[in-house]
Amino acid sequence: MLVRTFGSAITGIDAITITVEVSLGKGVNFFMVGLPDSAVKESHHRIHAAITSNDYHYPGKRIVINMAPADIRKEGSAYDLTIATGILAAADQINSDQIDKYLIMGELSLDGNVNPIKGALPIAISARENGFKGFVLPQENAKEAAIVDNIDVIGVTHIKEVVDFFNEDLIIEPTKLDTRADFFSNLNEYEFDFAEVKGQENIKRALEIAAAGGHNAILIGPPGSGKTMLAKRMPSILPPLSLHEALETTKIHSVAGKLDRNSGLVTVRPFRSPHHTISDAGLVGGGTFPQPGEITLAQNGVLFLDELPEFKRTVLEVMRQPMEDRIVTISRARVSVEYPANFMLIAAMNPCPCGYYNHPEQECVCGPVHVQKYLNKISGPLLDRIDIHVEVVPVPIRELSKRTDSEKSNKIRERVIKARIIQEQRFKEHPKVHCNALINSKLIHQYCNLDEAGQELLKNAIEKLNLSARAYDRILKVSRTIADLDESENIQNDHLAEAIHYRSLDRENWGN
Ligand SMILES: Nc1ncnc2c1ncn2[C@@H]1O[C@H](COP(=O)(O)OP(=O)(O)OP(=O)(O)O)[C@@H](O)[C@H]1O
Ligand SMILES: [Mg+2]
Ligand SMILES: [Zn+2]
Repeated sequence: MLVRTFGSAITGIDAITITVEVSLGKGVNFFMVGLPDSAVKESHHRIHAAITSNDYHYPGKRIVINMAPADIRKEGSAYDLTIATGILAAADQINSDQIDKYLIMGELSLDGNVNPIKGALPIAISARENGFKGFVLPQENAKEAAIVDNIDVIGVTHIKEVVDFFNEDLIIEPTKLDTRADFFSNLNEYEFDFAEVKGQENIKRALEIAAAGGHNAILIGPPGSGKTMLAKRMPSILPPLSLHEALETTKIHSVAGKLDRNSGLVTVRPFRSPHHTISDAGLVGGGTFPQPGEITLAQNGVLFLDELPEFKRTVLEVMRQPMEDRIVTISRARVSVEYPANFMLIAAMNPCPCGYYNHPEQECVCGPVHVQKYLNKISGPLLDRIDIHVEVVPVPIRELSKRTDSEKSNKIRERVIKARIIQEQRFKEHPKVHCNALINSKLIHQYCNLDEAGQELLKNAIEKLNLSARAYDRILKVSRTIADLDESENIQNDHLAEAIHYRSLDRENWGN
């Protein structure tokens, strides 16, 4: 007897249907064909144990499992349940009338419990697109799959429930989620608020500009000055996610198996802060079975690289292309997958090895050569992609204990949103550009014009501060954003003067 069940495989952040054919014949062997990896082979042992330990009959016959299409790599243990259901149906222990109307996935433990899988959301999306009636999956993944409507999401915890469900001995209510209501009620929720940061008004201003224009930024300051605290609050002032962005972000975290089991849609922009010992693959994605890296997990949100000079140079190099293209391509001998990589970079660093260069109270013991050397550890091309440099001076301890009223993040966010709307209008004929940070030199000439006084001011500043050539375009872009926050059509001198401020690391005398 031949039975078909259906599972799904992930490529990139999308899923495609996998057909599992089970046939029983004469003999007592077990064969699996269609390029399953070693994990799928191991699943035979788990399936055997799960079936027999629950008093089902494991057919003492020649069992052939064919997984198609053959050219797609099927990794992992998530097909345990797909195959087990097929075997039980082929052996007439499950009524096979309905099984081809469902996608069935889950990892089995030896006693028949069903364990969670990765990618339940994109699988549910593809199941609906392919006209399946429902998706039988681990209970723990039910909420993320239920983001998709018009498909029955059947959450199960044990193989017995699957058997009883198809045999109509058990009714399992589909998991339902009101995704839109959830989305709109959680839109303005965030974990950390800028109001919790005392003082530091100039830094908050710089970060508001960064958020408004989509500019990458670096915070330079001594230990304990609040760099990490400030960076963590960036998602709270960026515009709220659109429903499309929320879905995309959730899909990525679903594929990486990093979703909170109890929630459906991700409604807050992600904040990722990988440690500086991270590998190339960890940062940009990769591995034998490609997995998204931190830059993809930060999609639509913030990637925070703390202690930037401590990252290996090669690791930062691999980020360059994705930062340019906003997409990362992982090539393997058999496959090549693409992940989105559209994030805002916030970096942080100490100003020198000891941390106290330029500190108001403590003395730096490093000496100019060491300070410069420390800075040189960051590659020029990466620095080229960071528009805003901010020096963070610690708030004195006596000030920290005072009660002061600071502006709440949602107030800052309102101004950011206004500035973003102006930019969207301005760039409406350039589909790939939606904020000032993304404009190329041609558009800079078009949209960042200075009057004569402004040109003079910029020229003088560049000479006086010894700014390197790369500073020029950055200053223009950032001053455009400052003008937008000011709802000013033209870039005025005070906008320009403020933008010139944000180029600390371009000063050729840094460290002298
Ligand atoms: N302006 C501030 N308002 C309130 N708390 C602050 C402020 N600055 C620092 N702190 C407190 O000091 C702690 C240390 O700050 P944080 O870890 O952000 O510093 P850092 O600059 O990232 O230091 P490091 O270089 O060690 O990583 C914070 O958790 C917070 O409790
Ligand atoms: Mg820190
Ligand atoms: Zn020092």
